[in-house]
Amino acid sequence: MTTVERRSRQDRILRALDHLRDGTTDEVDEVSPFGPEEYRDPEIARQERDHIFGTVPSIVAHSTEVAKPNDFLTLQMPRNKVIVVRQQDGSVKTFVNLCRHRGALLEEEERGQCRILSCPYHRWSYNTDGSLRAITKGQTFGEVDSVERGLVELPTEERHGFIWVVDRAGAEIDVASWLGEEMDEILSEYPLADYVAVRAEGFDEPVNWKLMQDAFLDGYHIQYAHPNTAAKHIHTNVMTFEDYGRHCRFIAPRKSIDRFLEEDSTGHDLSQYVTETHFLLPNSTLLKQPDHFELLTFRPHPTDPGQSRMEMRLIVPKVEDSHLDEAKWTKLWDKNWEILLAVLHQEDFPLLRSSQSGMFSADAAGMLLGRNEVANQLFHREKRRLIAEGEAARG
Ligand code: FES
Ligand SMILES: [Fe+2]
Repeated sequence: MTTVERRSRQDRILRALDHLRDGTTDEVDEVSPFGPEEYRDPEIARQERDHIFGTVPSIVAHSTEVAKPNDFLTLQMPRNKVIVVRQQDGSVKTFVNLCRHRGALLEEEERGQCRILSCPYHRWSYNTDGSLRAITKGQTFGEVDSVERGLVELPTEERHGFIWVVDRAGAEIDVASWLGEEMDEILSEYPLADYVAVRAEGFDEPVNWKLMQDAFLDGYHIQYAHPNTAAKHIHTNVMTFEDYGRHCRFIAPRKSIDRFLEEDSTGHDLSQYVTETHFLLPNSTLLKQPDHFELLTFRPHPTDPGQSRMEMRLIVPKVEDSHLDEAKWTKLWDKNWEILLAVLHQEDFPLLRSSQSGMFSADAAGMLLGRNEVANQLFHREKRRLIAEGEAARG
């Protein structure tokens, strides 16, 4: 971390302390309206799939989830079912999970290792670089151009310890330029590529992906929705916010910082008293905690605006870099994970499911994002911008 970076973090934390003393928070200029159709209209959902996920990079995994050559994982992107495979040369490729013979799903497992990808239907096989390797009883099948009939590849890039994919064959990918100079630099200061995704799990919820994403940019609900869990540790409705155009970050003070409301904080590194959250457009919340990271991603369902999948990852120092023995290290992160899961399943998900069911009311009227809901405002603003750009390009 550069000195400038450290100083600017300290300044931002001091600003959060001022907010705490004054009962204020960073705000944007206007209250912003939105409507229920954004959570239920199939045409809006199609625009989001095409103009957002089919156009810009989003994170699909941490690099350590496909650590070695032939390691793969499969997932449902908004437009395609995909397989992500680590190549022999160490790079990562993503393919549409579909056999080019008659369309069987090539790989059903969520994670594993494969030397070849072999179709369960008639046993055509593909190399892990996507090329067609063998056609079963080829002498009877007829002429096939095996270069033409390889797996369909999606643009993929590894950067800052994450694997990013644009969910459209033939699209361009350039993660650094998507992040922009400032956010790219912020992420490059973090040891994300040296850490390990100790836990990664997905949850299918009957909730639109934006309702989910919004809940994890929101410091306004903590005290009311999480009175006995998160609110014990984190202040409600206090944020210092930085807008980086497409992306943003904000600092939320933990309650442990309260001693510095009175005490002089000079000479103290205050970063251990805050959570610093990064929103990476279109669908990721990266939380920097004092000793680890959490990544939350939200993906629309391929057809139903009322469903989505959330993935949560706990990204932590490797055991050998941790000054803990393996048993203690495992126990520490197991406990962390259990706490995260409990808050999600018992507190956030029930609220979000009921919000989604409300959105389907025929006479649901317009709703509002407040000036204090700074990161949510940026998310909605930038999401609308992507859709408008995509529709304009479509003509
Ligand atoms: S569908 Fe894959 S081999 Fe026939
Ligand atoms: Fe919450």
